[in-house]
Amino acid sequence: MKNNTVVKKPIRSYVKREGRLTKSQLRGLDNYWIKYGIEYDSKIINLEKIFKRHGPIILDIGVGSGESTVNHAISHPENNYLAVEVHRPGIGRLLNKIEEDRLTNIKIIKYDVIDILQEQIPDRSLTQIFIFFPDPWPKKRHHKRRLINKELVKLIKMRLAMYGRLHIATDWEDYANYIRELGNSDPGLINLAGKNNFSPRPSWRIETRYECRSKKLDHKVWDICYGLK
Ligand SMILES: C[S@@+](CC[C@H](N)C(=O)[O-])C[C@H]1O[C@@H](n2cnc3c(N)ncnc32)[C@H](O)[C@@H]1O
Repeated sequence: MKNNTVVKKPIRSYVKREGRLTKSQLRGLDNYWIKYGIEYDSKIINLEKIFKRHGPIILDIGVGSGESTVNHAISHPENNYLAVEVHRPGIGRLLNKIEEDRLTNIKIIKYDVIDILQEQIPDRSLTQIFIFFPDPWPKKRHHKRRLINKELVKLIKMRLAMYGRLHIATDWEDYANYIRELGNSDPGLINLAGKNNFSPRPSWRIETRYECRSKKLDHKVWDICYGLK
């Protein structure tokens, strides 16, 4: 008998079109994934075990090539960084950089962050979550693909530690306004810049290749920071 159950594919916030990897990116993946990568597995991660120490955990979501993650990790050696990304070229570049700078406080997960937050991150374990320049999906019919929505915020609130912070930056005004409204209407979050306000750009957030391109298009940037109430 035929099984007529239709399994609906989840809507992803990314599309996988990688193109060819450069030699250097391949070298990074081949040589250093074993050292700094964490294979996806649907079980809760033991964060102390993977970093081999106790310390604040920062989840950096959609890191691209991880320029900003590396910069923050260098200036905060006391923190442990979980960098999440789905595209191998960026991961290859980040692996080379981690090895070059001999950083011991960054680990990478190559998977959809929604699954990671749902299945792998322990409750109340994250000190901070960064989402810098989530893919904007500017066309209205694609807005359903945008990463930041009520469901993501619900997950984030469960995984953030007490006094944990969520920091988002985007160069799309309608997305920024949507995120601000989402936070304002959530009784569990507090806008650290005051209700309805955007936060000043932090000096430590370096300009990534993505931001550089967006600046050339005359885009402004909006930072939004929330704390757990
Ligand atoms: C516009 S780029 C920004 C990269 C970087 N944060 C920066 O500031 O330059 C967004 C990144 O998020 C990644 N991404 C999108 N959805 C994701 C998801 N569900 N899980 C993990 N990474 C995701 C994309 O692959 C892409 O590299």
